[in-house]
Formats: sequence, structure tokens, C-alpha cells
Amino acid sequence: MRRLLVIGIGSGDPDHVTQQAVKAMQTVDVVFGISKTTENEELLRVRRELCERYIGGRRYRFVEIPDVERDRRPVNYVKAVEEWHAARCEHLGGIIRETLEEDQCGAFLVWGDPGLYDSMVRLLAKLSSLARVEFEWEVIPGISSIQVLAAHHRIALNDIGESLTVTTGRKLVEMDHIPAGGVVVMLDGQCAFRSVKETDAHIYWGAYLGTADEMLISGKLADVAETIERARAEAKKRKGWIMDTYLLRGRA
Ligand SMILES: C[S@@+](CC[C@H](N)C(=O)[O-])C[C@H]1O[C@@H](n2cnc3c(N)ncnc32)[C@H](O)[C@@H]1O
Repeated sequence: MRRLLVIGIGSGDPDHVTQQAVKAMQTVDVVFGISKTTENEELLRVRRELCERYIGGRRYRFVEIPDVERDRRPVNYVKAVEEWHAARCEHLGGIIRETLEEDQCGAFLVWGDPGLYDSMVRLLAKLSSLARVEFEWEVIPGISSIQVLAAHHRIALNDIGESLTVTTGRKLVEMDHIPAGGVVVMLDGQCAFRSVKETDAHIYWGAYLGTADEMLISGKLADVAETIERARAEAKKRKGWIMDTYLLRGRA
């Protein structure tokens, strides 16, 4: 039977690829790379380099999969994402059937950890339930960008005994206060921290974490918000893309 692996590869630093991930990578015949925008071109290059570094001595194929286009400004966000996932599922099933022989193993190298804001696990679960192509599958965890954020700022993500909320920039704007214990924000293309009302709020921000371009800024939100916005805009202009994440606390 075909085998599929979803392997978390960390968020940019090749040394964050775990030994379990390396061992898994060394069993694959085909690595699937989903390509989307300019941002993903660079992320695709990182994946190719990881393959060379960790599977270089073995025979394997790197198969690039152009992603299915998605509606970026839908009226109903959840419905649009569900429809997009259904189309991706169909597309992926066909490619797996065509490129992977019955006894072969394929891998999807997922940025950070596959369990956090990534659709690959959901896609394979759906594909497996549709039974259009039969396969066994496994998920190998990876080091998430938010773990790197905490480590490089030398902070604990949660307050003692408190919960931690992890959300998106889109959802942060809808919150009327920072949840007790703090909130980690990902997928924020619009500096949603500008919507925070708490005057004592503290931010720990990081971009391109784990890479040579890593940027870290922290401080009282009121004091550093503009610096972050400026640094973010300049870096995005220079590189053409940016990935950043941050922790907000109601106080330092
Ligand atoms: C689609 S989510 C993927 C998250 C990933 N699965 C993880 O565990 O980090 C992409 C978001 O993760 C965050 N992210 C991923 N890699 C990052 C990095 N190297 N530096 C800063 N933020 C990163 C950003 O908030 C970005 O918008």
C-alpha cells in the first residue's frame, strides 16, 4: 500500500529538523512540494535544500504541485476555505495516484508543526475518507514558529498556571481585550496589534524566525508598535514576503 508522511520541518532553521523527521525523510521515494506565491517559492527552495541535506545520498524525486487558486476575499470565509480544500483534495488525489506507485512512500514537508495552522493533515484525512486513493499515513511533529519565538525572546509563552490563546490577526481585531494569560497571533498580514486597547500591553514580535534574516522586537506595545510596523514594511519590501508572529500580554 502507498504510504504518505506529513513531516514538520521547523520554521526555517535546518537544525530544527528533528531526528525523527530526518529518519522519516530517508524512507521516502517522492517529496511533494506545494507551490503558491513568491513567499512559497523561497519556502520551496528551503524544502529542496533540506532534502539535499538530509536525503541527498538516496534516490528520490521532488514533485512540485501547483496549488489550487483560492478566493482571497470571500463573503463567507469558512465556506470558501471548505470549498478550496475540497478542490485541493481532488487535485492532490490525482497527483498521488499518478506519481506514487503502490509500494512507495511520499512526503509532504510542512512548515513548523503540522498541527498548527496548516491544512495538510485535514486534507489527507479527507482524502483518506473519500477512498479515491488508498494509503496509510503518519504525522511527524515539528518545531513551530511560536516555540522559536518564545525561545529566542527567552520567555515562557504562558503566564504561570494560565491558559494561552493562539489566534490569527483577523480574529485579534474582533477581540475587545487581550485574553488573560496572553495571546499568540499568527497569519497577520495587517499589523492587527494596532487594534489593541490595553495601554499597558506588551508585545514580543519575531519575523523570519530561525533564519538568517530573523528580526526580534519587544517592549511596551505603545512604545514599539510603530517600530515594528516600519521594520515589517521595510523587510517585506526588501524580500517580497514576510512571515511574522507575536505574543501579546495585557502587561509586561
Ligand atoms: C500557515 S501558518 C503555519 C504555521 C506553522 N505550521 C508553524 O507551526 O509555525 C503561517 C504563519 O506561521 C507563522 N510563521 C511561520 N514561520 C515563521 C517564521 N519563520 N517566523 C515568524 N513567523 C512564522 C506566521 O505567523 C505565518 O503567517
